[in-house]
Amino acid sequence: MWSGLAALSSVVALASYRYLAGVGPVPPNITANRHLSPWIVIHAAGAATALLVGPWQFVPALRGRRPVIHRTLGRVYVASCAAGGVSALVLATGVSAGPIAGAGFAALGTAWLTATTIAVREILMGRVPAHHRWMIRSFALTLSAVTLRLYLPLTSLMGLDFTISYRVIAWACWLPNMIVAELFIGAADT
Ligand code: HEM
Repeated sequence: MWSGLAALSSVVALASYRYLAGVGPVPPNITANRHLSPWIVIHAAGAATALLVGPWQFVPALRGRRPVIHRTLGRVYVASCAAGGVSALVLATGVSAGPIAGAGFAALGTAWLTATTIAVREILMGRVPAHHRWMIRSFALTLSAVTLRLYLPLTSLMGLDFTISYRVIAWACWLPNMIVAELFIGAADT
């Protein structure tokens, strides 16, 4: 499961870096975002780095035997979430698909920043199991970038209306991830 998630995360992250280089296709709904520049570049840089780095933080051998690498990547992950999350909140207010989609992304961005902040607070207080649980929640939210990009082509294949599907996906790309994260945390605790 880890390899699959890491591979999907890396593909989506590396493809997203195209916004930094200004190359490749930009979907029409993104071009129509009212707050595109400079926020999409900040968002792609931060959020994609969080997606790229995140999976490695869950490798037990790296955590146990290379704590310096874990702490360094952890700082990169948190800084990337901060940049990706704040810019996501700005982008959410400019979404061309309307307020239902905008609210979905704003709620996701708020949950992402909150989970990551609590995870940092827990490790600063020395509460390692709670830090682990909140980082699972944080990364489950980071993975919304992957689930969104799996659902979008599916709805297109099913011939569904793009704007209506997009409004649903703005919520569906992360709420089920939260349920899976809680099940995973529950199974790990027992
Ligand atoms: C988890 C919280 C996230 C939130 C709240 C969020 C929010 C947003 C919003 C509002 C937009 C503009 C959508 C529109 O105008 O229709 C956007 C676009 C984008 N986001 Fe995120 N995002 C998140 C995570 C990520 C992650 C982890 C990545 C990593 C790859 C990412 C990469 C992108 C890219 C590349 C775009 C441009 C659209 C595209 O080319 O597919 N986002 N995001």
